[in-house]
Amino acid sequence: MTRRRRLQVAVLYPESSHPESSQEAATAARGDEARTSGWSGDAYGHMLRALAAEGFEVLEVGIDFATLDRIDALTCDVAVNLCDGCTLDGEPGVEVLDALEARGIPYTGARRLAYWIGSDKVRMKVHFLNAGVPTPRFQVFGDADEAIDPRLEYPLFVKPCDTAGSVGVSLDSRVDGEAALRRRLQAVIPLYGPALVEEYVEGRELSVAIIGDGDDLTIFPPVELRFGPAYPATCRIQTFESKFDPASPLYRGYELSCPARLGADEERTVIEAARAAYQSIGGTGYGRVDLRIGAGGPRVLEVNPNCSLEWAEGDVRDSCMFPVAAKAAGWSLRDVYRRLIDVALRRNPVPTRMPAVAPQVRTRTF
Ligand SMILES: Nc1ncnc2c1ncn2[C@@H]1O[C@H](COP(=O)(O)OP(=O)(O)OP(=O)(O)O)[C@@H](O)[C@H]1O
Ligand SMILES: [Mg+2]
Repeated sequence: MTRRRRLQVAVLYPESSHPESSQEAATAARGDEARTSGWSGDAYGHMLRALAAEGFEVLEVGIDFATLDRIDALTCDVAVNLCDGCTLDGEPGVEVLDALEARGIPYTGARRLAYWIGSDKVRMKVHFLNAGVPTPRFQVFGDADEAIDPRLEYPLFVKPCDTAGSVGVSLDSRVDGEAALRRRLQAVIPLYGPALVEEYVEGRELSVAIIGDGDDLTIFPPVELRFGPAYPATCRIQTFESKFDPASPLYRGYELSCPARLGADEERTVIEAARAAYQSIGGTGYGRVDLRIGAGGPRVLEVNPNCSLEWAEGDVRDSCMFPVAAKAAGWSLRDVYRRLIDVALRRNPVPTRMPAVAPQVRTRTF
């Protein structure tokens, strides 16, 4: 009897994020980006051990702009792609997908189009509007003294268009009047480029983790971020300090709770908004949809294609929301990784095209 060959899995990770990397943060990093941290402690080893325990032959491949050509020489059955740069931050993202597509190697996570749309919040919002996904009303400011759309209602929220990890977001991001808005724009635009100004959504914050392509989606129970007294009542948001600064009271000042306690109708509208947002950008592989429940119902802030999968034993606060949601649904981390690989292997070799969505101009909800 012949034994089946073990599946060869190449884990592509951003070189600078590896716990043992001596590499400095990318030199192109803007503002807070230079202070983000990569995979912490054992989170990365955890994934490697889980893949090995599945019986896969695991190969680790560190990728940055200087080593992108490692993909050209790669032989494996499937790649687990953990490279999530946005180019402007000095880390490759879409370039990794291009190289994988060119080699015809199946890979986990978002394909090129969804990844590219998802790496810019303004691009995403255009797709949300087209598909009728509820999202806060907004304006993009190329400079700080541009005329303000009179339809925007304070409080407003100022953030960079294309960063992640709350880079460029602080308690000063919420502004209650024009003077504060101009000040914040003056701080954000020189560092990060054009700023996205949205209406501030007062209300609970949730995130919905999704695995799958097209209509074949597993949607996990919503995770709620519950902000404690370290946060001012007027600004319960995830700042850069909340995510990356252990010395800040904001860092341990919130909890993750899953499944979020929601009424049946409320949960349905949250799940539907998350599904519609994911599909509106041609969501593929896996991702997380961030939203807040405002006075008019859920308002989608963004989709995070290829969101972080980091898991830490112990305090749930140290893990990322995706694995927290999957675990709450009874999945093990091995179940998650296996499913990500199954989705990759089942995929059509032709890169996914956008779903045909007729513009829904008359049903737009802000
Ligand atoms: N319009 C808004 N109203 C209220 N709060 C907001 C708004 N936009 C963003 N926030 C707050 O800022 C945080 C960061 O915003 P957002 O999720 O858009 O950025 P990000 O940096 O891409 O995050 P991620 O780490 O998920 O990639 C949100 O989690 C939320 O708390
Ligand atoms: Mg977010």
